[in-house]
Amino acid sequence: MTTHTVRLTVNQKPVTATVEARTQLVDLLREDLLLTGTHIGCEHGVCGACTVHIDNVPARSCITFAVACQGSAIRTIEDFDDDEVMKQLRSAFSREHALQCGYCTPGMLATSRDIVRRLPDADLKRIRIELSGNLCRCTGYSGIVRAVHSVLEERRRTGAATTLDRSAIGPAGSGHAGTVSVSGGMNHRTPEAKTPEPSAAQRITTSASGRLSNTPNIRIQQSFVVNSPRDQVWAMFENLEEVISCMPGAALTEPPQDDRLVGHIRIAMGPIKATFRGQAEIERDPAAYIGVIRGSGNEERGSSTSGELRYALLVGGERSTRVEVEIAAAIKGPLAHFSRSSLVTQLAARLTQGFSDNLAARLRGETSTGTAGADLKVGSLFIDAIRGYLKKMLGFWR
Ligand code: FES
Ligand code: FES
Repeated sequence: MTTHTVRLTVNQKPVTATVEARTQLVDLLREDLLLTGTHIGCEHGVCGACTVHIDNVPARSCITFAVACQGSAIRTIEDFDDDEVMKQLRSAFSREHALQCGYCTPGMLATSRDIVRRLPDADLKRIRIELSGNLCRCTGYSGIVRAVHSVLEERRRTGAATTLDRSAIGPAGSGHAGTVSVSGGMNHRTPEAKTPEPSAAQRITTSASGRLSNTPNIRIQQSFVVNSPRDQVWAMFENLEEVISCMPGAALTEPPQDDRLVGHIRIAMGPIKATFRGQAEIERDPAAYIGVIRGSGNEERGSSTSGELRYALLVGGERSTRVEVEIAAAIKGPLAHFSRSSLVTQLAARLTQGFSDNLAARLRGETSTGTAGADLKVGSLFIDAIRGYLKKMLGFWR
C-alpha cells in the first residue's frame, strides 16, 4: 500500500497525516481526527452533508482527496463555536425550525455561512439557488431558507460588516500551487506516487473469471512467518478442510468438492453478530507456491460480500516459511459502513494472527489453540481502537 504524508491545517491546528492516495478528506477528518461533526450522506458529492471549508470555500469532503489538501486550511463545524456569523445562524436555525434530525445541519450551516459572508444582499430566491447543493430529507427547506434570510436581514439592519474571506479564485484548495506534472499533460497537486512493486501475492495471475463482481472497498495485506519448511506448509494448504479449520469463525458446511468450498464465517464484534454463508473456489499453482480463493457470501440482514484472497508461500529461512496474504473484498448492504472503519484492518490482523497461530499449532502436531472453530470474537477491538485513536490524536495535535 502506497501512503503519502499530507500537511495541512485543521481547525487552525497543524496536522501531519499519513494517508493512502485514495483517502477522502472526510475519512481523515472523521476516522483519524475524530471530527465527526462532518457527516457522510451520499459519498458521491450530491447531498452536501460532508461540506467543510477548504481555504474558506465550502467544499465536499467526500469527493476531495486528502492528498489534494496539501497546505490547505480546513475548517469543520467544530471550529465555528465562537464564530459570529455561525452564532447568528445557529439561533436562526433553532428559531425558524430549520432542522429536525439534524443530519444535514453541519453541511447546511457551512454553506449558509458562506452565503451570509459572500452575498449580503441575497434574496429568498438566491438563497434557495445557493443552498440547492445541500439536501435535507426532513424540513422541506422553508425553515432553512427563512433562517438564512433572517440573518442577512439582521446584519443589514445592524450594519454588520461583511468580510469576504475567500483568498483564492478557483476550485477549493487551489491557492496552494504545488504542481506536480503527471503524464497526459495534466497538472496535479497530489505528491508523486511511485508504482509499488507487486507483492508475491499480487503476482498471482488472475483469470478472467476471477474478476470481482463489486469494486473492493476493503484491501488488506498481511504476512506472517511459520517455523516449518515451505513444502510442509504447502502440503497443509493443500488440505482444504485443515486450512478452513484453522481460520477463526470459519467452518465448512459440506465436504470440499473439486476445489469448491461451501461454508460460513461467523463474526461477533461487540453487539454486532454476523454470519456470512457462501461458497468459494480455489485456484492453485504448486510450482510457484501461490493460490487464489474467490468467494461470495450473504448475511441474514441483507449484507453481501464478494472478494478474493491471494496467498503466496515464500522461503523465510532454512526451516521457516513466510506466508503473504492479500485480501480484496467488497461489502454491500447494512454492514457496508463497517468496511470504512479502521476496525476492519484490525479485524483482519486478528483473523490472520488466529489463523497463523492455529496453522503453526497444527504443523507442530497439536490440535488447536482454542480459537479454531470458535466465533471470531473481536469485542476488545473497540477498546483497542479507542486506545489507538487517542494515541493518534495526541500525535496529531503535538
Ligand atoms: Fe458528500 Fe453527500 S456525503 S456530498
Ligand atoms: Fe434531517 Fe435535514 S434535518 S436531513
